[in-house]
Amino acid sequence: MNVLVSGGTGYIGSHTVVELLKAGHNVIVFDNLYNSKIETLDKIKEITGKSVKFYKADLLKPEEMEPIFRENEIDCVIHFAGLKAVGESVAKPHFYYENNIGGTLNLTKLMNKYNVKRIIFSSSATVYGNPAFIPITEECPKGICTNPYGWTKHMIEQILTDFHTADKDWSVVLLRYFNPIGADESGLIGESPNGIPNNLMPYIMQVALGKLPELGVFGDDYDTPDGTGVRDYIHVTDLAKGHLCAVEKVMSSSEVNIYNLGTGTGYSVLDIVHAFEKANGLKIPYSIKPRRPGDIATCYADPAKAKEELGWVAEYDLERMCKDSWRFAQKTLANEI
Ligand code: NAD
Ligand code: WQD
Repeated sequence: MNVLVSGGTGYIGSHTVVELLKAGHNVIVFDNLYNSKIETLDKIKEITGKSVKFYKADLLKPEEMEPIFRENEIDCVIHFAGLKAVGESVAKPHFYYENNIGGTLNLTKLMNKYNVKRIIFSSSATVYGNPAFIPITEECPKGICTNPYGWTKHMIEQILTDFHTADKDWSVVLLRYFNPIGADESGLIGESPNGIPNNLMPYIMQVALGKLPELGVFGDDYDTPDGTGVRDYIHVTDLAKGHLCAVEKVMSSSEVNIYNLGTGTGYSVLDIVHAFEKANGLKIPYSIKPRRPGDIATCYADPAKAKEELGWVAEYDLERMCKDSWRFAQKTLANEI
């Protein structure tokens, strides 16, 4: 297939491009490099021995995206490009709504124009809000999001669903990711956030590298086995492989299909700290801090639908996630300022 990947130099996008190339797809990437580096393309080539066609293009500038559609035969689009920092979205809601929603409208307008009506969208477990039940199936009602970032996912899901309602040629796959961590086994690509990380594993990396003194654990009084928040951490390579199955689905279906991509297992913050320490023979100093506003106690998936309909299951365990995260940190993050 000829697959156009928006946001393909980002964290999940780059891992998905690797898996697409390994599976023999022809991949075209665009990104405005706001939160990623052009060097990622060299790393992808080093890992796979294959190149992708790259366009530096912004979702907010249709004139930059249009040549991609003019110059290439595209079978489907995997749409990763977007802003994802929860706290920043609270501070800059306009920026988030414009970039994520306005950008998606620009992209899909061009898709309509060039008759490319197959899209896989990066949604998030955040659309479930404080979930009505656990483990979360796709039947779980969408909830009240606690920040503009989450609402952009909620709304884009609805927008793409409405496209299908209006025009049955639109084939839509909405993938609700749980908490991706880990990195490609090469240690060449991974998550490299700007500034002080907001998310748990990137923060632990900075502590392990000695760049930050200790981890703050946000709350130990939740109704969970050890009082700390429970999440469904999934290896980014497993997540990337889920997109291969989604490509098959989006090409063969003309419906809106929704899948949770998670492992089905919940781990607490302290489980992650201890697993990381054990897997890598390191100590992660931490102290208990107040709860972080907007956090929920527990969130993990029931991934049965993805198994049944896509034939996809997450394969890597927590030890592997911790080892691969640390390999990337040592090989790559350690050299960043
Ligand atoms: P990322 O920031 O690493 O990748 C997103 C990419 O999109 C970046 O390379 C960035 O430069 C690009 N981008 C942003 N705005 C753009 C624009 N206007 N035009 C062109 N490119 C633009 O993030 P990620 O973790 O790889 O996430 C990918 C997608 O998955 C995002 O949509 C994110 O919201 C979603 N998601 C991520 C997680 C997670 O925990 N990482 C969880 C659920 C959903
Ligand atoms: C995990 C757990 C924290 C940092 C976010 C977004 C979601 C999706 C994935 C993107 C929680 C605790 C964290 C720290 C801590 N994003 N924690 N100390 O909040 O589950 O999900 O990323 O698209 O939309 O909301 O992930 O990694 O931030 O937190 O104790 O320094 O770790 O309280 O229990 P979260 P996270």
